[in-house]
Amino acid sequence: RKKITLPTLQAMHRRHDPITMLTAHDFPSAHAADTSGIEVILVGDSLAMVALGLPDTNSVTLEDMLVHCRSVMRGAQAAFVVGDLPMGSYELDARQATESAIRMVKEGGVHGVKLEGGVDVVEQIRGVTRAGIPVLAHVGLTPQRSNALGGFRVQGKSVAGAVKVLRDALAVQEAGAWGVVLEAVPAEVAALVTKKLRIPTIGIGAGAGCSGQVLVQVDMIGNYPPGRFLPKFVKRFGDVWGETTRAIQSYREEVKGGSYPAEEHTYPMPKEEFAEFEK
Ligand code: KIV
Ligand code: NA
Repeated sequence: RKKITLPTLQAMHRRHDPITMLTAHDFPSAHAADTSGIEVILVGDSLAMVALGLPDTNSVTLEDMLVHCRSVMRGAQAAFVVGDLPMGSYELDARQATESAIRMVKEGGVHGVKLEGGVDVVEQIRGVTRAGIPVLAHVGLTPQRSNALGGFRVQGKSVAGAVKVLRDALAVQEAGAWGVVLEAVPAEVAALVTKKLRIPTIGIGAGAGCSGQVLVQVDMIGNYPPGRFLPKFVKRFGDVWGETTRAIQSYREEVKGGSYPAEEHTYPMPKEEFAEFEK
């Protein structure tokens, strides 16, 4: 498969070919996404919940992200890989954002970074893009700012809310972002924002009118323990968790019942050698 670059994604956008983006947090999940033809792999800070078992993304550090980025890069051959800048690594100013983004590229090996926010982070986006690092912006529901948003709520449901989403999207475009994630925004609003932008919009809970879509991989393949809250926009395309527990239960039962390991799983020894050894 040919390497996906920023120009590849821009060409896809021009011919209205939907951009598929999916998260990955380690070598196997990156390999699966890459070989399935996904164009953009996101090392999302959602790995806090889906890989580390944390309650939210707030405590994930840049160091944590670097470990996961390196693992993902070993499994990604063709995809364009974007690493999430975690909370606390970019909010202060352009300098902090640029330093963090440079580490993500140099030490994590990713091709670009994502950061959350609109009008509030234009200086950061300018700084990082000036350093030659492609920035994917993220507006609407921004999980790292959920305490300020009053929880994980749909954004842009009111006129004022929709105007804010549009203003944020236009601001990140002007600041130099190559694309923008629209999370949990009414489909009509996301479609109109997409029409007003030159850069692609990547939707998650934002309807089919976006230039592309993104989902958290463990959610869409159904690889999470019972009890994980899933927002309305997630479609479960598989049952990997069920398949995994079925396989592990079978292994356990076969060991208990004596049917595993069988002859074919063992190494033979020449009979004469064993006879000698037995003495
Ligand atoms: O961390 C993440 O997985 C994300 C996507 C849901 C956009 O930011
Ligand atoms: Na994220």
